[in-house]
Amino acid sequence: MQTPATIVLGSVNMDLVIRGSRLPLPGETILGGEFFQAPGGKGANQAVAAARAAQTSVAFIAAVGDDNFGKLSIDGFVADRLDVSEIRTIPDCATGIALILVDASGQNMISVASGANSRLAPADVDAVPDSLFQNARVFLCSLETPIETVRRGLERARDFGLTTILNPAPADRRILEGDLLSLVDILTPNETELSLLTGRPLPEGANSPDSSPIRAGALELQNRGCATVIATLGAEGCLVVADTVWSAAAFRVTAVDATAAGDAFNGALAVGLAEGRLLPDAVRFASAAAALSVTHSGAQPSLPPRFTIQRLLDLSADDRVSEGKNR
Ligand code: RIB
Repeated sequence: MQTPATIVLGSVNMDLVIRGSRLPLPGETILGGEFFQAPGGKGANQAVAAARAAQTSVAFIAAVGDDNFGKLSIDGFVADRLDVSEIRTIPDCATGIALILVDASGQNMISVASGANSRLAPADVDAVPDSLFQNARVFLCSLETPIETVRRGLERARDFGLTTILNPAPADRRILEGDLLSLVDILTPNETELSLLTGRPLPEGANSPDSSPIRAGALELQNRGCATVIATLGAEGCLVVADTVWSAAAFRVTAVDATAAGDAFNGALAVGLAEGRLLPDAVRFASAAAALSVTHSGAQPSLPPRFTIQRLLDLSADDRVSEGKNR
């Protein structure tokens, strides 16, 4: 296996999904949905997204239970050529489980029983050999594992000079405490996470990159210590607050299921940066991966391989050229 250029730390879940016509209201029962099971978990989705988008190998730091869901998940990671040497199997513990409801427009609701994810400890990060960090370029993490473990991962990644990305999903205001955000180079909240982290309510439909709560929220998070904030806004694209503020449009696709779109974005962003792309190019690569992921059902089954991402980028470049000629 090649030396991993990207390290992902995060959760592993088995997703139990019902796709129905609409999402139920609290206390309501809706009949007539279809059920399927698919491997998921924000960390695992990001690691698999990175592995499928990358030309180099990707290492995954995680924990599963000693059950069939854990075995199935690891079999999938091996098939995707992930480096699984830093995945712990915890005895007498269940693998994480997510219950997911998806409506006809692809929107979802998710509830997670963390299981083994809650047992991934800072000591597990300390046990990762230096050699893994020494050769890597980018470290990506999210918030479905304990925050002190995330912090330890960020600290070790910083010690070795890696670019650090924190996807603050699900939103947890404890990341605003102390100096945690100063360990983060790039923070990637979606609009809901941005609103929860900053306490700024988002008026209905105010999720465009031009919306003032989004801009003000992203600037506020940047001021708390991370160099760059990328607010991911679904079909509205994303807003990037770095040395300058700019936005990137989303690729136009027909959405079937938005589950793991953010994970696809983060995994591909990490790979793009690990390959040495500049931020605008890495954001475009990530946006293409995210767009493709919403065209299929399920989390990991929807994550696109590199050649599909490249084809979408090439097609849209052709469109841009012909638009230019027609002007
Ligand atoms: O981001 C999508 C993921 O969130 C799902 O795969 C589910 O497991 C939850 O963790």
